[in-house]
Amino acid sequence: SKSEPIKVMISGAPASGKGTQCEMIVQKFGLVHISTGDLLRAEVSAGTEIGNKAKEYMDAGRLVPDEVVTAMVTARLSQQDAKEKGWLLDGYPRSFAQAQSLEKLNIRPDIYIVLDVPDEILIDRCVGRRLDPVTGKIYHIKNFPPETDEIKARLITRPDDTEQKVQSRLQIYKQNAEAILSTYMDILNKIDGNRPKEVIFKDVDSLLSQVQKEKVKTTKPV
Ligand code: AP5
Repeated sequence: SKSEPIKVMISGAPASGKGTQCEMIVQKFGLVHISTGDLLRAEVSAGTEIGNKAKEYMDAGRLVPDEVVTAMVTARLSQQDAKEKGWLLDGYPRSFAQAQSLEKLNIRPDIYIVLDVPDEILIDRCVGRRLDPVTGKIYHIKNFPPETDEIKARLITRPDDTEQKVQSRLQIYKQNAEAILSTYMDILNKIDGNRPKEVIFKDVDSLLSQVQKEKVKTTKPV
């Protein structure tokens, strides 16, 4: 019997390592990675209507209005690849209203992972973060420096990664976190995100493998 694709939500404060873990999850589990931050940044650089609306909020480190983000996410989730391969939702829901929108549509993950990292570590991770616009890969000037000078020369810094904006993003995260958790309490898994990324991934990997195994058990043979 073929198992149902798994559905995963990953959450955590700014720079808790969601994107970094998602890179590794996608490689091993082949899920469709849906990052609202990445989708919004793509809209901004393409200069679309959504992008123009979102830009001022993002640059200020504030949340983009729910209706803009929710429309974008539900459109992406309904595409065929997400249904076939399963999905990995990163950065959504970020408010109680967003969580409720998914509940109303009967969209629920199998597991809700929260990466737990102390505040003082988060600031340093954001300020040192660099992105490769060509591959989309995430680097850090100290923790994960680029492999070659060629990559190093093209790395970019996010406009919302200044210390002040990170503080404001962190505040907003904390204001919303508990209300979102209440929706997913039954499938919540907190992971210590203040360890080397490979060590964190070991935990993530075994959680997702477990979810996958459960799905095989409960899926009827064809
Ligand atoms: P988004 O892009 O989602 O930003 P975020 O939640 O603040 O998360 P980050 O991307 O900053 O961090 P991350 O957890 O992915 O960490 P990463 O792996 O990169 O959102 C940006 C903006 O878009 C929002 O502020 C908002 O305006 C808007 N938006 C997005 N979704 C929205 C929504 N649903 N509703 C409304 N608005 C929305 O790692 C960070 C750094 O640490 C990197 O340099 C990395 O190399 C390093 N690092 C990672 N893991 C480790 C480790 N284990 N040890 C040491 N260093 C590490």
